[in-house]
Amino acid sequence: EQINKGNYEHYMQKEIHEQPESLRTTMRGRLIRGGSSKAKTVLLGGLKDHIKSIRRSRRIVFIGCGTSYNAALAARPILEELSGVPVTMEIASDLLDRQGPIYREDTAVFVSQSGETADSLLALEYALENGALCVGITNTVGSAIARNTHCGVHINAGCEIGVASTKAYTSQIVVMAMLALAIGDDTISSRTRRDAIIDGLFDLPNKVREVLKLDQEMKDLAKLLIAEQSLLVFGRGYNYATALEGALKVKEVALMHSEGILAGEMKHGPLALVDENLPIIVIATRDTCFSKQQSVIQQLHARKGRLIVMCSKGYAASVCSGGSCRVIEVPQVEDCLQPVVNIVPLQLLAYHLTVLRGYNVDQPRNLAKSVTTL
Ligand code: G6P
Repeated sequence: EQINKGNYEHYMQKEIHEQPESLRTTMRGRLIRGGSSKAKTVLLGGLKDHIKSIRRSRRIVFIGCGTSYNAALAARPILEELSGVPVTMEIASDLLDRQGPIYREDTAVFVSQSGETADSLLALEYALENGALCVGITNTVGSAIARNTHCGVHINAGCEIGVASTKAYTSQIVVMAMLALAIGDDTISSRTRRDAIIDGLFDLPNKVREVLKLDQEMKDLAKLLIAEQSLLVFGRGYNYATALEGALKVKEVALMHSEGILAGEMKHGPLALVDENLPIIVIATRDTCFSKQQSVIQQLHARKGRLIVMCSKGYAASVCSGGSCRVIEVPQVEDCLQPVVNIVPLQLLAYHLTVLRGYNVDQPRNLAKSVTTL
């Protein structure tokens, strides 16, 4: 049942639209609502015997490729905040190229939809040899990464067929947010924050359902962008990963050059590209980086940039005050969960661009769902 297209034309389209359900499945049985005296909490069965060791580790290293790496990047800030443990990021092939340092005191978290990606598997072997505690976050029960790590969490997003990962990405972020809650101390001072995130997780499928209503709007935007050569996506903070992942989607399936840019680096190079022709998506939803993104928008306006701004509902007027721009308004959620909502319009945009440009959505040229060779 899971592997036919149902009423959809393509698997990628179906997988984008089933995210409210896949997220619910990811969280099922793992979020505890709490009661009058009991705290809200998170239960990750596959980790329960290792939580203390993870908490005590000197460093958490996320290792992955492609979309899975981006999901880890999206979760990094909340892991850092709640665990107090330094979190570093490694692209599996780059870690191997450098033979980068991995220590016995490290927790190495392998993020992989398939659990079979050759680069990630080799990096796992390397981390095991170096004595790190290895955790797997995969969507595939019985996969090599699930089998060969010390412990782990299945994301339970359901079978993903489209080569471009969509629902696995959002479920991976949710699992890593739950991991942050599980590792973090449940202290009085962090209680309000933790409760807000847990409430936010409960409500997330509804917010994703709401953002999916932008489908037609994203199709209209795709019509405008159909003949472009290039598209930039600016993000920062929690949504730096959204910029990278949105650009990756457009590149992979719509075969259009697209680059995710850390907005804080704008003046160190990318600003030279800005003119009235190049389309630029700026992610500027409300969080602690919002005022910095507003100033980025002003600087882009000053250079006559062709802007499409993603903002929180109700903020269209304030983000576009300095010039003209097209706006994508999304529902606001807890800051660390916002990447789950924000990626959805970009997935829809990539999907529609691909169909309008006449390319194969589910099997983009030269790419494979699971890259099992080096
Ligand atoms: C391939 C796929 C991508 C995926 C990456 C990592 O490149 O085309 O969609 O993100 O591998 O795959 P994994 O299964 O390890 O998440």
